[in-house]
Amino acid sequence: MTGHVFLIGFMGSGKTRWGRAVARAVSRPFIDLDERIETKEGKSIAEIFSIAGESGFRVLEQQYLRRLGGIEPCVVATGGGTPCFSDNLEWMQGEGTVIYLKTAPEILVQRLKTETHKRPLLAGHAESELPAIIQARLEARTPDYERADYVVEYRGDDDVFLQQLLDIARTTF
Ligand code: S3P
Repeated sequence: MTGHVFLIGFMGSGKTRWGRAVARAVSRPFIDLDERIETKEGKSIAEIFSIAGESGFRVLEQQYLRRLGGIEPCVVATGGGTPCFSDNLEWMQGEGTVIYLKTAPEILVQRLKTETHKRPLLAGHAESELPAIIQARLEARTPDYERADYVVEYRGDDDVFLQQLLDIARTTF
């Protein structure tokens, strides 16, 4: 089917990085949902969380996601929580193909430990607490993530991973 390719997965799974690479390779526009929310709202995600709380952010996230309906097919990097709230996952599946970037918690911890200030759900926690926090949240979200149309696991080789994503994207567009 044609439609968008949505990348889902935990914070630090590389949705933005890989999304950009896939979009470039298949010559489709790239949209980063968080970036779009920040630009249009004129506030960082951290500011939105502090003003409106997580629930306020989820309302905006759902609204901005829905606005991608009917536009030309794009590669979309979602936020880590996007498929876990409301009927966002079903909606994305109706609008295209959803790929879960499955990434081991140890790798996520390594990538996220210097980036917690950008992630309100992790901000304020000591580095020593991150493994447990990330493990618990990942476990809670995994049932949603694994409902994706495709699950692609990162096994340490960037080229292999990108190729797997491209193979899926090319059959979609
Ligand atoms: C969130 C992940 C973030 C951002 C917000 C909430 C989450 O996106 O949407 O901080 O609930 O996991 P990234 O996955 O791009 O960090």
